[in-house]
Amino acid sequence: MLKHRSGYMPPAYLVIAAHLDISIFDDQTLVTTRLELTKNPDAGTGANEMRLNGRDLELKRLSIDNIEIAKDDWPLDDAGIHLTNLPESCVVESLSVCHPETNTALEGLYLSGGMYCTQCEPEGFRRIGFYPDRPDVMTIFTVRIEADIAYPQLLSNGNLVETGAASEGRHFAVWHDPHPKPSYLFACVVGDLECAEDNFITASGRDVALHIYVEKGNVGLTGHAMDSLKRSMKWDEDRFGLEYDLDLFQIVAVSHFNMGAMENKGLNIFNSKFVLADTNTATDTDLHRVESIVAHEYFHNWTGNRVTCRDWFQLTLKEGLTVYRDQCFSADTHDEGVQRADDVSLLRAAQFPEDRSPTAHPIRPESYREINNFYTATVYEKGAEVIRMMAAFLGRDGFRKGMDLYFKRHDGSAVTCDDFVAALADSNDIDLSGFARWYEQAGTPHLSVKRVAGGKATITLDFEQTLPETAAKTPRNAVPIPVRLGFLDAAGHPVATSLTPDGVSADEHVVLMQTATHRQSFHAASGGGDVALTPSLLRNFSAPVVLADDLSTAERLHLMAHDTDRFNRWDAAQTLAADAIVAAATGGNSLDADAAALSGAYRNILGEADLLDAFKASMFALPGVSVLESRLKPADPVALYHARMRLQAALGDGLADIIATYLKDDARHALQASDGGRALLNALLMLGVAASSAQAEDIAAAQVLDANMTLSQGAVMALNNSTSTARDVGLSAFHDRWLDNPLVMEKWFQMESMSVVGGTVARLKTLMQHPSFDPNNPNKLRAVLGAFMSGNPVHFYAEDGSGFAFIADCLIDIDSRNPQISARMVLPLTRMSAYDDRRKAQMMAALRQIDNAKPSNDLAEIVEKTLA
Ligand code: ARG
Ligand code: ZN
Repeated sequence: MLKHRSGYMPPAYLVIAAHLDISIFDDQTLVTTRLELTKNPDAGTGANEMRLNGRDLELKRLSIDNIEIAKDDWPLDDAGIHLTNLPESCVVESLSVCHPETNTALEGLYLSGGMYCTQCEPEGFRRIGFYPDRPDVMTIFTVRIEADIAYPQLLSNGNLVETGAASEGRHFAVWHDPHPKPSYLFACVVGDLECAEDNFITASGRDVALHIYVEKGNVGLTGHAMDSLKRSMKWDEDRFGLEYDLDLFQIVAVSHFNMGAMENKGLNIFNSKFVLADTNTATDTDLHRVESIVAHEYFHNWTGNRVTCRDWFQLTLKEGLTVYRDQCFSADTHDEGVQRADDVSLLRAAQFPEDRSPTAHPIRPESYREINNFYTATVYEKGAEVIRMMAAFLGRDGFRKGMDLYFKRHDGSAVTCDDFVAALADSNDIDLSGFARWYEQAGTPHLSVKRVAGGKATITLDFEQTLPETAAKTPRNAVPIPVRLGFLDAAGHPVATSLTPDGVSADEHVVLMQTATHRQSFHAASGGGDVALTPSLLRNFSAPVVLADDLSTAERLHLMAHDTDRFNRWDAAQTLAADAIVAAATGGNSLDADAAALSGAYRNILGEADLLDAFKASMFALPGVSVLESRLKPADPVALYHARMRLQAALGDGLADIIATYLKDDARHALQASDGGRALLNALLMLGVAASSAQAEDIAAAQVLDANMTLSQGAVMALNNSTSTARDVGLSAFHDRWLDNPLVMEKWFQMESMSVVGGTVARLKTLMQHPSFDPNNPNKLRAVLGAFMSGNPVHFYAEDGSGFAFIADCLIDIDSRNPQISARMVLPLTRMSAYDDRRKAQMMAALRQIDNAKPSNDLAEIVEKTLA
């Protein structure tokens, strides 16, 4: 059944208070929900009815105002309890049974590695107890949890108010959360866990206890998450004036989790992968990821929890905004330029392909069958880009004023994206109505910027935007596109220009394009003369668009060498590399010349003393196959992959002498000492091995055993696509070393699956029989199957379609246990628009095979959209 955004109806009743009683036994869990209801004054007249959602629950008792309703009269249907003819106010109580012990979907209450935990967002609460499970019903929860004393921790949201013994070896705890919240932010954890404790004093002096709960033996791996949490709390105070609002903040790490983490009020639940990390078990990239996810979930306390979504169509209200906030935090904590390059890489690799696919949707979708399918790169990452454009337009202070007004108006309520944009607009007395179009239109706008022939000291640019047709069939009106730009002279220095002949000169301008076409002239300040000016367009990626400009290769090399905007230096390298790879993949003979030009540019960059190593390393990251595909029609991922490898080898050859210098003991040890240095070292090692340098291979082989995980994994990755025995030796050494660490074994699975040499379908089947593999653990599925699809194009997109058929079989099996995961993992099979007919037909056949197996609602929505 399709739900439409326009179909929103306010709830007829509000919940004044909710009392939950959860009693866990080995073979069942009893849940009582006692709800104080009162008619919603804003719901209009009529309907004295109320839906209590419930899924796979066994109802045992139902009463209204303490009067039992006879079983025969229970108003039960597939979706739960449908109460009618209710009085203005009443108390409804239900007792039901659920089964966490057999819950493999990991929604609602489930068992993970011996502990009970919950995941309620978006609609998991209805699998725990009968409740109006919608985000606009916010209330104050009091929760009593009871379980065997074998589970010392009985955790929920808010404050602990009472504990005590219960009958026969059982005990209980009562929690009260003073902040009204929707059911999706409810959480409960029952287990035998170890706790890391710390505290944080807020700006106004509240002493907040910080608890991170982990499985026994792991408390030593929580330091980085704890430190990240404290820095996030401080940052939100400094940047947005937002303080934490309870005396306790808890994080629990669980091994079985469908996503990254969850912002439940005062009790965040995390995929253990994003909590447990130190430099021996996690790479620097992993540590950054832990930090940004801890920050993201913490930031949700205001953007998500204090102010939440009215309905799930508004998901980007909290997710786009919170991603934007965590990106800003990371940029402030590390390097802005590197952070922007990382964020844009992700957007291009994951969101742009989504926008071209059968599951394309606007950041605020218009309809859905299963809301779990809309936790997407579009809602999250493109949503963040839309906030970023408005924030840039308002400026730092203007955006802060907007945020302040948003909280002033809406604290404690459930609102819409329009409410958010209105707060930004009203607080700045500015019209943002154009930006509203970014919320309603799917598709990545194409922006063409071309130079118009003209005078010497004046450059005129023609801007044109086109909106592609997408599967979502949303309108295609011109959107506001802020284009940040500047000009460089032949020496690479910024040239000030003005927008009118005698206007104010500046090194940089923002052209806000509001219509489909736009022409703008720029007048060079001091004499201009005959100097050739190179435009640097869309600086810092000022809008989430595909840019087509008229720059020559020489001009791009110029930007790569000199632009003051580091994002554009990085992006010039991306474009040059993509041009070279695409030309090579289509049989052009130009790789040598392109590689020589790029090597020269890289050589200069390596020599730049005041450029950060982290930034230099990011310059070496070649665009991935999913990004390259958009440049070629029909796209051939296998050919692109091989061409990309050839460029890597050619760069390794072209830079052989300088790589050799960096790999010498002293220079190498110097690089090993910092995270930026390690990233650069790994990038150079990768190029060296790609070029079959014996020195690089030997160093990589030795570095596999380094105590530092960044160095160790970097070395295995460098060897992973080489046919030398060093690959096998390295991988098995890594395997033997980490066999008893399930999280690090995920890296081993991943590298095995991604190897063009070893990662065959036959090998994947063996991996899935490995004792460390667990078919019910999403991380393990992602490590083997996810990595295969995204990181091993040669075998996944194999000529004979064997990769697709294998994945289809796996997905049918996974779907019977965990529909959220199967529906997510099927997505690569739907990204076929650019491929040739043969490959498309093979992918369609795999999808038909899934469709014939009667998939879950989650999986069916994706598959049927694609087959339609
Ligand atoms: N709100 C969480 C986050 O972004 C994501 C949880 C989504 N979970 C799900 N099963 N769809 O931090
Ligand atoms: Zn989030």
